[in-house]
Amino acid sequence: MCGIIAYSGHQAALPILRAGLRRLEYRGYDSAGITLLARSRLQTWRAAGKLDQLESRLPEKNAAKCGMGHTRWATHGAATDENAHPHLSPDGGIAIIHNGIIENAMSLRAALTAEGAVFASDTDSEVLAHLVAQCPADSLLESVRQALTRVHGTFGLVVMDAARPGELVAARNGSPVIIGVGEREMFITSDANAVISHTREVVHLEDGELAALDARGFTLSTMDSAVTSRAPITLDHDAESLSRGGYAHYMLKEIMEQPEALARTLGGRLDRRFNTAHLGGLNLGPRELLDIRRIKILGCGSAYYAGIAGANLVESVARLPATAEPAAEFRYRNPLIEADTLYIVVSQSGETFDTLAALREIRRKGGRVIGVCNVVGSSIAREVEGGIYMHAGPEVSVASTKAFSSMLGCFMLLALQLGRVRDVSPQQGGEMIAALEALPSLVDTALGESDAIAVLAAKYSGIRNAFYIGRTDAFPVALEGAQKLKEISYIHAEAYPASELKHGPLALVDPETPTMVVLPDNNLLPKSLSSLQEIRARKGPVIAVTNADHPEIHALADDVITSPPCHPLLHPLVMGIGLQLFAYHMAVRMGRDVDQPRNLAKSVTVE
Ligand code: AGP
Repeated sequence: MCGIIAYSGHQAALPILRAGLRRLEYRGYDSAGITLLARSRLQTWRAAGKLDQLESRLPEKNAAKCGMGHTRWATHGAATDENAHPHLSPDGGIAIIHNGIIENAMSLRAALTAEGAVFASDTDSEVLAHLVAQCPADSLLESVRQALTRVHGTFGLVVMDAARPGELVAARNGSPVIIGVGEREMFITSDANAVISHTREVVHLEDGELAALDARGFTLSTMDSAVTSRAPITLDHDAESLSRGGYAHYMLKEIMEQPEALARTLGGRLDRRFNTAHLGGLNLGPRELLDIRRIKILGCGSAYYAGIAGANLVESVARLPATAEPAAEFRYRNPLIEADTLYIVVSQSGETFDTLAALREIRRKGGRVIGVCNVVGSSIAREVEGGIYMHAGPEVSVASTKAFSSMLGCFMLLALQLGRVRDVSPQQGGEMIAALEALPSLVDTALGESDAIAVLAAKYSGIRNAFYIGRTDAFPVALEGAQKLKEISYIHAEAYPASELKHGPLALVDPETPTMVVLPDNNLLPKSLSSLQEIRARKGPVIAVTNADHPEIHALADDVITSPPCHPLLHPLVMGIGLQLFAYHMAVRMGRDVDQPRNLAKSVTVE
């Protein structure tokens, strides 16, 4: 989604903004722009399309030491030069960049137009520049504060004033804004990755907060002008971890680094002495864990699929009723919130709007919510009562891979800890710990199939549709496998519980439509083999994804993706690796933009 980078300091702003915009690219965007302030004049360059379009319009050099840049993901108005940010006030004195949606933009535009204003774009954001210019005050901060009293909606924004060189004002309501604190230089961004090569010291703005800054420092205040303060936190990763590390794509790098990511997720959390897991961040003692009667997991997209796998894990290990639901749907159906249910919101970015809104709705109704998040200090991580950090490291590719696996790792730990205060015996707990300790090396083995899967992708890269099926704990594996394929290859892919195939989708099985059948080595294998028979009887190609050594699989399947045998607890995670690799190699084979697929954004911060 949209990205913000702004700078005020002792260095030339342009190269810093350029590099910052490159760092924001992964979030997804369709136009970009930069404004610089030098000699009391704002200069603005904007371009639809990728950053190269903007680069071709920018000057080689510019002496300005203050400026801001933006990547836009179109919501109101098409992706054109005119709609790209920054937007200016009619006299060109105020420039603004904005993430979020101004809900009363239509009525504000109508009112301003009636007063004679002329708009240069179709965006909701441009009204903000007009409003700030209409609110003269002793400081830019005060002008912005007054302008925002007329606005309903979500925003993360930065404002510059040609009359106040070196000053930047930022405000937040629902869209992330982060201040980067440097030596004689300050940054504002919507994503800490954009400033990490300059500073690891950051301050997250809260909703309803404004920041005024220049090269020397910053002040925080609320919409009611109350002064606030917060010490910076130190980011837990560095610029190096954001590089592609020699891989052709971030996605491949992130798939390949899953053994290390999972080792970090599990690290220090397995307790051999009591054969349990220790998730200190939950902020729940054994008695509180025992009092939980139900678990409800909420997330969006792949995080929701991880939630389905997580609910299966918790219910089967801890024998605690557990379900998962898409976060946005949950919020809008006015759900019952119960005191003895533990609500878990899952999000890699910690900024997904629908997940954050579900969390707020549950808390408003008095429910207890914990989070499973990757980005430290993200909005969700800060608003939950406790939680589990994934420690997967930064995920840049839009298609989530290592974060999905790490979410499953977190749910395995949670299932173990909840199970050990219930029916799971010390001996069973010990077996689960042994299984978890083997997880990174099992994933490493699964990754060893990459070359064979690339050959398979060459064979199937002409397909237009695919089915993915699996039973019980293999179903979320199928869901996530189909999601990966459609996101980055644009092949239509649908996932079903294997048992559902004959209730409808079987009508579409034909020689051009392969079915990926996820076949874990468990007691349901014979039943899954019948699904395979049904597909073959309709001449549908079958790719079996399996860790079972069963002769019938090889006899019935056209192709097999093999996965290492493992403890049933690990099936959904380990068996998913082959499907990540299949989607990746298919997309490469088809010449797709693997890391930045069309229409998608890394972090969906609008409703
Ligand atoms: C995953 O490949 C997707 N890009 C998407 O479904 C993603 O998982 C979803 O938008 C949720 O993101 P989050 O984990 O940052 O909340």
